Amino acid sequence: MRVIVVEDYAALSQKAASLTADQIRQNPRIVLGLATGSTPLGLYQEWVEMYKQGTLDFSRVRTFNLDEYVGLAPEHEQSYHTYMQQNLFSQVNLRPEHTHIPSAYQADLTQVCKEYDERIEAAGGIDIQILGIGANGHIGFNEPGTDPGIGTHIVQLAETTIQANSRFFARLEEVPGQAVTMGIRTIMKNSRQILLLAYGEEKAEAVRRMIHGDISANLPASYLQLHPSVTVIVEKKAAHLLDEIACGTADALTGR
Ligand code: F6R
Repeated sequence: MRVIVVEDYAALSQKAASLTADQIRQNPRIVLGLATGSTPLGLYQEWVEMYKQGTLDFSRVRTFNLDEYVGLAPEHEQSYHTYMQQNLFSQVNLRPEHTHIPSAYQADLTQVCKEYDERIEAAGGIDIQILGIGANGHIGFNEPGTDPGIGTHIVQLAETTIQANSRFFARLEEVPGQAVTMGIRTIMKNSRQILLLAYGEEKAEAVRRMIHGDISANLPASYLQLHPSVTVIVEKKAAHLLDEIACGTADALTGR
């Protein structure tokens, strides 16, 4: 894993944007895997700015989101469809038919999951998968205990995840208990590169275990140690439990 430690959230977003924008420019038909939540908002804002300044073009870019809550209509204000529309899709020239989010509002979710993996494969896989990380080490909505061998599937969200995500809902009871998520297999097998972003003290222990801990279903992000091309951009509060050596290596890798 290549670990880049940055000073603050703004630096994290700028670093993520510059790394990805270079690749989008080199490969205009790039396939991006996208995350939601608080962490990538700054990255999406940076992309929007670059688009508005005419330095980044999304017209041929294709995207696949990691996950969606079960039972929320796409137009629900807390659905990840709405999140993506508001924070990225409506603000750049991505074509609607090039964007994909699991349709977790349909009756036959098993079929939705199967077709989602097939679509990713038909697109030739994902060139850069953007990930956040949960305080419990989840990636996508692959909670601790998830079988790493499964593709896109329906999950029961952990109580801690429901609590964490309740900040976006009026009441805790409104947070859906289930989601459709790309599986760890989907992420590991289909992504050529992974870019994981982490900020905030509450992520520090999960980040430490992801990088230095045992590879185990107890911390799903630890499976990323097995992927050949993972870059982690971590803000210093989330990095404070990492070894000096890891941080030193990070500085050497970034050349800063
Ligand atoms: C979102 C997702 C989740 C989040 C994680 C961190 O699509 O898949 O794994 O990345 O829960 O969320 P934030 O960024 O809100 O701390």
